[in-house]
Amino acid sequence: MWTAPARAKINLHLAVHARRADGYHALTTVFQTIDLADTLTIVEHDGPFTLRCPDSDAPEDASNLVVRAARALASELGRPEPAGLRVTLAKQVPAQAGLGGGSADAMAALRLLCGIWGVAADRDLLARIGGRLGSDVPFFAWGGTALGVGRGDEITPLPPLPPLACAIVRPPFGVATADAYRWVAESRSGSPPADPAFEPPARADQWLDRLARCRNDFEPVVGARHPEIGEAVATLRAAGARLAMLSGSGSAVFGLFEDAETARRAMAPLVGRPGWRGWLSATTRA
Ligand code: C5P
Repeated sequence: MWTAPARAKINLHLAVHARRADGYHALTTVFQTIDLADTLTIVEHDGPFTLRCPDSDAPEDASNLVVRAARALASELGRPEPAGLRVTLAKQVPAQAGLGGGSADAMAALRLLCGIWGVAADRDLLARIGGRLGSDVPFFAWGGTALGVGRGDEITPLPPLPPLACAIVRPPFGVATADAYRWVAESRSGSPPADPAFEPPARADQWLDRLARCRNDFEPVVGARHPEIGEAVATLRAAGARLAMLSGSGSAVFGLFEDAETARRAMAPLVGRPGWRGWLSATTRA
């Protein structure tokens, strides 16, 4: 039996630039791993490759990135279609939340399958295959704190964010990533606004000051359609968050705090709303 956590991410900064010729938008983003995680378990069995996601709405067919990851890795390695493995995915990370749950699952699957198939889990190999599965997937070959450029798939590690408690709330609705990009594009007439280049800190101890310059370009357009997003950001900020922001294209909102108790208290009024959920998490180094 092989098992691994698939930790989620938040984006500390997410600037959406112009649409590229291939239809994707150029980005400057800072990814940060958190300890909210799904758990992937693989056992050998006498039968086909199967995926089960108990107690979750996650798909168990080829639309799940775990299945696509297995197929892509087998093909890259010149192996036959995956078989003889039973994969169980225990979901904790909510979908359509901007937390990269499906992307993290895909990377955890690639790593475990490399081990099972006796191949070195070389970071470049993982990132290359991951990039074919989704723009967010390559980051998970690194984890920790990292800059993403290109369509978010070109990764450079950054000085690690000092450990912080992370309150995450998700309203009762999700946001489809492609919709959020369209809303950003529609909100701009002509070319995107001039963007002061985001300067990542040179040292870890500069991060806390640098957070004041972070922004997420999805926040105004998602917030315009869902005022609850702005309310959640304001609630976490008023409770003392170092940074409170939409994660990715949403719909989850996170707040970073010095300690878990402040984070828990900050999100309590939001989690009390009908249909809202909350997770007390923490940033991690990898
Ligand atoms: O790469 P991924 O499959 O996660 O992207 C989902 C959708 O989000 C794309 O089809 C595209 O519409 C949009 N997208 C984008 N620019 C990016 C990443 C994603 O426009 N950098």
